[in-house]
Formats: sequence, C-alpha cells, structure tokens
Amino acid sequence: MNERFQPSGPLRGRLRVPADKSISHRAALLGAMSTGNVRIGNYLHAADTTSTLEAVRALGATVEVRSGGVMIGGCGLRGLRALEARIDVGNAGTLMRIAPGWLGFQQGSSFTLDGDESIRRRPIDRIAEPLSLMGARVKARDGRFPPFTVHGAPLRGIEYRLPVASAQVKSCVLLAGLSTEATTVIEPVASRDHTERLLLRAGAPVTRVAGANAGVGSGTGVEGGYRTTVAGVDELGLESIEVPGDFSSAAFLIAACVLVAGSRVLLDGVGVNWTRAGFLRIAQRMGAVVLGDVEQRGYFGAEEPAAELEIRHGPIEGTTVAAEEIPLAIDELPLVALLGCFAEGETVVRGAQELRVKESDRIATVVAGLGGLGAEIEGLPDGFVVRGSGRLRGGRLDACGDHRLALLGTVAGLASDQGVEVIGMEAATISYPNFADDLAQLLS
Ligand code: S3P
Repeated sequence: MNERFQPSGPLRGRLRVPADKSISHRAALLGAMSTGNVRIGNYLHAADTTSTLEAVRALGATVEVRSGGVMIGGCGLRGLRALEARIDVGNAGTLMRIAPGWLGFQQGSSFTLDGDESIRRRPIDRIAEPLSLMGARVKARDGRFPPFTVHGAPLRGIEYRLPVASAQVKSCVLLAGLSTEATTVIEPVASRDHTERLLLRAGAPVTRVAGANAGVGSGTGVEGGYRTTVAGVDELGLESIEVPGDFSSAAFLIAACVLVAGSRVLLDGVGVNWTRAGFLRIAQRMGAVVLGDVEQRGYFGAEEPAAELEIRHGPIEGTTVAAEEIPLAIDELPLVALLGCFAEGETVVRGAQELRVKESDRIATVVAGLGGLGAEIEGLPDGFVVRGSGRLRGGRLDACGDHRLALLGTVAGLASDQGVEVIGMEAATISYPNFADDLAQLLS
C-alpha cells in the first residue's frame, strides 16, 4: 500500500500515543512465566505484540483480551514440560531474542522459532552464544539465523560481557539467569532496562552497579555501563502492570512538531524511562523545544515513568551523537537523520553499526530513503553524516518492509516542499497501527 503525505499546516492538540512495544512484549512474556494471573493494562495491540500473545498461548499460557488490557494466566517459571513447540515470531525481533532465555531452561522440551522474511535475516548467534555457555543447546540455520531450535537444559550461572550493546541479549541472559544461582551481565554502555524493572516488580532479585563502581571500571570500557546480576528464583509473581505510552512512537510526532512551522502538541502518558528516551536529549541539544517531567539519568527501580510532553516547532542545529547515546536512542536514529536535514550544520551518527541488523539495514535504507528525497546524507559503515539545508524536496520513499522507515517517510512528507509517497505504508502496523488517524487528529 502506497500513501502520500503532503506538506502540512501545523500539528496542534493533545494526544495519547500507543502503548510501549518493548514493555508489552516483556509484560506478556513475564506474565506467561509467572504463577497465577497477570493483568496487563494498556497492552499494545499491534502486529508485533500480537505475535507475542500468540507465542505465549502456543506455550500454554491463557490469554484473554479485554477492553483496556490483557489477562494472562501464567505457566510458571518451569512449567513447559516435554513440549515440542513451534513459535512464529512474525516480525518481532524482541520476542525472538528474549523468549529463548526462558525456553532455554525448560528441561526435556524443545522450541523452534521462525518468522517472516526480515526476521530470517536477523542474527541470533548473539543469544545462542551465552545460552550455550549456560548449558542450553541452540541449533540455527547457518549457525546464526532463524529458523532455530532451543533445546532446554539445566543452566549454570555465568558472568557475561555483552559483545554488542543490546537490551535484547541482556534480557535473554537475565531471564535464563532466573534458573541459575546467579548470573551477571556486563554492558559496556547502558541500554534500555525494561526487563530489569519488570523482573524487580515480579519479585526477582536484580541488582545493578554502575561501571565505575563495579570493579570492571577503568580501562575496560564499562564506565558508562552497568553490571546487572539476577539471582535464581522459584517463581515470579507479577500481578498487574500498566504499560506507558511508547516513546519510540511518540518520537515520530515529536519530530513532526519540531519540523512543521507553527506546531504545538501535548502528548500524554509517554514513557520517559531515561534508558529509552535518549532521542529526547539529542533533539533538545539540537535546539528542539520538548518540555516535560522526564526521568533523571541513573534511576533504577521497578517503576516505568510516564510524563506529559509539550513539543513546539522551532529552529534546530546539527549535532554529533556520542557513542554512549546510541543504544539509548537506537530506534530513533532515523529521526535524528531527518532532523539533521532541517538543521543548520552537520549531524553525525557513528558507532551505530547495530542499525544494519534491524528490521532493515537501517543505515542503507535511511541513506537511500532520505537521499532520494533530496537530503545531503552520506552513509558510513557505522552510521551517517547529514549536511542540513533547512529543507527537504520530497519524492518517494520505500519503507523496505520496515515500520520505522514507513513512519519516517510520513514525517518527512509533512515537513517537505513537495510531499512524500511512502511505498509500503502497511509496515506501520507492526508498531503504530493508528498512526494515520492520530496524525489526522493533530492536523485537523
Ligand atoms: C529492543 C531493543 C533494541 C531495539 C528493538 C527493541 C527491546 O534492540 O532496537 O527495537 O525491546 O529490547 P537491541 O537491544 O538488539 O539493540
């Protein structure tokens, strides 16, 4: 489905963005791992998170979709006995990489995970390695791609240093660690910590120490990161949780407001966990006016904060994104490129090679997509450089099956001189099915 987005008048009004995708995936999984019933308020109903509900159902959890949320009847931590299950993860990389942490310690059971064409290009050796070190057996196509099978086994605790800054890998190892005496993950730079917060909420003992105090500080590159340890438990007890609004979805509307003259919008209930909202700080540094009571850096606990954000149009300037900001804004880096087109001066993103293994190769697709609209953007092996000209001509942008590219194209269209036709707009249903309606509301 192709859709055209014309240069628009200002965005105005107040809106509640859809529920957080990352937290919805985790809540459904931890709900399925819990003993008893778990009520998840404001669960995201989008293609990706529906895949997770179907997956936990296939594993034996009960799932009841109610107005305002979802009720999950859990299987218990070790409740998946003698199963041979096939799980279709669809397009959901988070489901594919996190669930095996739980599946890996279901002794005597095996689980085969597969998904769509894009998921089959996404590496899983990053989780196979730590799970194998812990004692699970993982067999993947060509050693590193889906479909892959996880054979559950008794696991031993490990101390694992992440070779890539990945919240998905960290989460997988921490979930597996629930079955061990203790397991530690060392991350060189901080990444989103939704799993840790939910585990705390479910009663699991999780401790986190900042790099500088972790005995792995100086010279090891963990100064900005954390050392997170989970100790084993017999059961999880998650009773009820409320999912905040998705910061990544909000980011598209934030960018649209910043770029379209005369805009002023209030977004309600946006998740502002500091490990997630790095884009906010980057945009503010570029000069964007985004006001709100956001979480201060360094917080760790069971809460997921939400805030009202006020965004106003205004001039912006280029910036260089620091390496430690990358994991905290990983899904919003395409929007940093778009802001860069309208900024004065140069915007540089380096150290972001992880973008190459997202739903698409997001360095290639962003450079081709924005370049095709007239942007002066140059791809690098690990990022891109944009020379801002204060405007964007417009044209056609192929989403390449990637939801964040489709949404990028819409915002580019609104802010462009001639409009943008997005090829493959249906990809937006992965994370933000009502995007077009929400946009229409703010433009009316
Ligand atoms: C996610 C973590 C990020 C992000 C993805 C969702 C998560 O991936 O890009 O969209 O929910 O944990 P990595 O942790 O692999 O970088």
